[in-house]
Amino acid sequence: MRTQVAIVGGGPAGLLLSHLLHRQGIASVVLESRDRGYVERRQRAGMLEQNTTDVLRGSGAGARLDREGLVHHGIELRFDGTGHRIPITDLTGRTVTIYAQTEIVKDLVALRLADGGDVRFEAEVLALDPSTGTVTFRQDGATHELHADYIAGCDGFHGVSRAAVPDVRTFSRDYPFAWLGILADVAPSTDELIYAHHERGFALHSLRSPSVSRLYLQVATDADLADWSDQRIWDELATRFGTPDGWQLKPGPITDRSVTPMRSFVAEPMRHDRLFLAGDAAHIVPPTGAKGLNLAVSDVTILARALTERYTSGTSALLDAYSATCLSRVWRAEHFSYWMTTLLHADPGADAFDRRVQRAHLEYVASSPAAATSLAENYAGLPLE
Ligand code: FAD
Ligand code: DHB
Repeated sequence: MRTQVAIVGGGPAGLLLSHLLHRQGIASVVLESRDRGYVERRQRAGMLEQNTTDVLRGSGAGARLDREGLVHHGIELRFDGTGHRIPITDLTGRTVTIYAQTEIVKDLVALRLADGGDVRFEAEVLALDPSTGTVTFRQDGATHELHADYIAGCDGFHGVSRAAVPDVRTFSRDYPFAWLGILADVAPSTDELIYAHHERGFALHSLRSPSVSRLYLQVATDADLADWSDQRIWDELATRFGTPDGWQLKPGPITDRSVTPMRSFVAEPMRHDRLFLAGDAAHIVPPTGAKGLNLAVSDVTILARALTERYTSGTSALLDAYSATCLSRVWRAEHFSYWMTTLLHADPGADAFDRRVQRAHLEYVASSPAAATSLAENYAGLPLE
């Protein structure tokens, strides 16, 4: 079996890469270990930078996003029971959009299949060879080989691609807390996202639609979902978002819940020979800055351009620059995500000095237009060009 680009992983990075390559007449095969229903239902990101919506729209994958995406112009930082609005659009000229990762994945799978794309579910990659472009995978109980000019490792943090980069150097930070995320069938209690700092921990109020809310709570790294009844989750959220002015958090039936560890991680370089890493396979950010999915989209946008140049003009300047081009953007997002995380969470190891410095930082961001602009331009995403 032969193709031009073998894509390991059918998450947002792999599916979008396959779609972008197809638009340039480049063939690919996507190998995804899970079944279609699983990848379409896995609850994760929801906040899209303008770069991300521009890429989706510009490639013809934005029809439902345009109908159902919720365009936002600001976020609220809340601490000491008081909200401070960061007017993202006024400060940057850019917008952000709430549209769930599950919906992007559904849209891309449907588009790829409608365009005759080769997307294989329940096809697990076992090994890959960056020097020959050979990918070994298991499907329907048999082992197969796929031969390609290039391999895109889009198989997430727990995939197999990263280990195929010899002498890979990794940089990481584990945080002393995790996030408990819920999806609830209740109208959001807010129009804009609320990022709340409280001495009991961070909380985030996001949303999915006019009738579905998405909320997150900082919890201990060893938190067990069995200890978190619906009542306890809503009580804790209400405490952390609490204001003296009568604002109320509306509880409702919880339809999905999970605990996610908080980690920063970067693997360098993002290329070896014919293998290119993209998305969570190469880097992880703590979710506070909402950068993970957006970075995955920028990686594959850069990779698709580089492969297009290679196939149309025969030159490989963009492919050769791929790792460095992506890493400069990745490290900017790593810093921002780390900065937002330390700004807003309650670190169980913090002493009184740390807490006073954190308070000064919160007050600075809430009161200084310069500090708010710095937050806003990183949050809305720096332009891809
Ligand atoms: P993944 O989505 O992990 O996809 C990788 C795919 O590869 C998977 O489908 C996996 O099954 C497959 N795979 C793995 N191994 C193999 C193998 N051996 N063979 C074949 N297939 C394989 N990001 C944002 O930008 N904004 C947000 O608001 C945001 N919020 C988040 C909230 C939470 C709670 C979490 C957990 C994450 C959040 N993120 C956010 C991050 C975002 O979800 C990820 O960065 C994004 O999923 C990365 O996409 P990816 O395609 O690189 O990897
Ligand atoms: C969402 C997740 C985030 O990590 C974030 O910072 C903003 C929104 C979300 O899932 O909606």
